[in-house]
Amino acid sequence: MISLNGVDKTYRGRNFEVAALRSLSLAVPQGQYLSVVGKSGSGKSSLMKIIGLLDFDYEGVYELSGRSLRGVGDQALSQARRRIGYVFQDFQLVSRFTVRRNLEIASVIRHGSVDAAQVAQGLEDVGLADKALSYPDELSGGQKQRVAIARAMLGGPDLLIADEPTGALDGATASAILDLLADIHQRHDCSILVVTHDDEVAAAAERTVELVAGEVVRDVLR
Ligand SMILES: Nc1ncnc2c1ncn2[C@@H]1O[C@H](COP(=O)(O)OP(=O)(O)OP(=O)(O)O)[C@@H](O)[C@H]1O
Ligand SMILES: [Mg+2]
Repeated sequence: MISLNGVDKTYRGRNFEVAALRSLSLAVPQGQYLSVVGKSGSGKSSLMKIIGLLDFDYEGVYELSGRSLRGVGDQALSQARRRIGYVFQDFQLVSRFTVRRNLEIASVIRHGSVDAAQVAQGLEDVGLADKALSYPDELSGGQKQRVAIARAMLGGPDLLIADEPTGALDGATASAILDLLADIHQRHDCSILVVTHDDEVAAAAERTVELVAGEVVRDVLR
C-alpha cells in the first residue's frame, strides 16, 4: 500500500525554484496496476522517485506499507528498496555484461548471492531464455526492455515502477511490453506503477491518474 499525503516537491537552485509536486495526495492499494499520465514536466518522474525511495527531499507524508522510510538507516532503506523493481525508458543494462550476468548482478544485490534458478526462470518468463549469453547491444529495444523487466522482477518485488518503459519503442514493440506487464500483474501480487505518454499504455492499467503541474487532476478507475 502506497500512501502520499500533501506531498510537495520543490527543486531549488541558486536562481530557480520549481514546484514539481503540489500538495499531492494519492493512495494505491497493494496489487493495483496504475498508470500515471501528464505532459512533460508535470511531475511524473518526480513522483516515481519519491514513491521508489530514491528521493527523500520533499514535504508532506509518504508511507509505504504503513511506514515512512524517511530518515531510516541505510540497512532498513536497502531492505525496503529490495522490495521494489525499477524499469526505465533507457533500460539501464550494463553493456559489457551478458544478459544473464546483468540478472545475476541484480540477484546478488537482492539476495547477497546468485540464485541461478531464479535468473533462468526470470529470462524464461519474459521469453528470452535463448538470449542469456547475448550482450545488450545485440538485442532489439523491446528485448532490452524485457531483460530490464526480468531484472526488476527478480525475487518477486511488491512494487514494480516503470517510468516510460515504452518511450523508446515503436508501437508494436510497445504493445508487446504492455502485454508482458499485464501478464506480470496477473501472475504476481505486485503493484505496478507505469508512467506513460501513450494512451494505449495508460488504458491497459486498472487505474489512471493524470498530473498537471504537480497536481492530480484526474483519477479514473476502470
Ligand atoms: N533535478 C532537477 N532540478 C531542477 N528541476 C527539476 C529537476 N528534475 C525535474 N525538475 C523540474 O520539475 C518539474 C517536473 O519534472 P519531472 O521530471 O517530474 O516531469 P515529468 O512529468 O517526468 O516529465 P517528462 O514527461 O518530460 O519526463 C519540471 O518542471 C522539471 O523541469
Ligand atoms: Mg519523466
